[in-house]
Amino acid sequence: MVLAAADRAAVRALWKKLNNVGVYTAEALERPFLAFPSTKVYFLHLDLNPGSAQVKAHGRKVADALTLAVDRLDDLPRALSALRELHTDRLRVDPVNFKLLCHCLLVTLARHYPGDFSPALQASLHKFLSHVISALAPDCR
Ligand code: HEM
Repeated sequence: MVLAAADRAAVRALWKKLNNVGVYTAEALERPFLAFPSTKVYFLHLDLNPGSAQVKAHGRKVADALTLAVDRLDDLPRALSALRELHTDRLRVDPVNFKLLCHCLLVTLARHYPGDFSPALQASLHKFLSHVISALAPDCR
């Protein structure tokens, strides 16, 4: 499965524009904890209160992983293989949670970049995140 050139260009252009990806990923992490509370079960060892420094720190790690994915669109399974092993084999994250988190990431980006968030950009981001999910959780359908 390959991301079309137009989708790549749209995702890369937005990524360049984001001034602090970690801020958005931290917000995107907070959202499922409230909207889909079952996601909290994987993070019970962290302080999950709004504004938590631990969630912010985790958001920065997720941001770095997504930035790596944007940089390695041709090679996602290899680029994310260690994270796939962590999430699938060690943490045993139920694949549905990836869709919930990615949905919340789209909501977050739409909120912060409303002028950019055309239906076409949403579609490109959705495809990009679906590729990321496929690399992290190959069994996710
Ligand atoms: C850890 C990325 C989705 C649960 C991590 C780490 C990264 C990451 C970079 C840190 C790895 C390390 O410290 O070496 C991502 C990305 C995701 C994603 C890019 C999807 C776009 C999820 C989902 C869940 C989850 C959906 C569960 C609902 C966890 C947990 C940890 C972790 C529990 C360990 C946290 C800790 O103990 O510090 N993830 N993740 N991740 N992730 Fe994910």
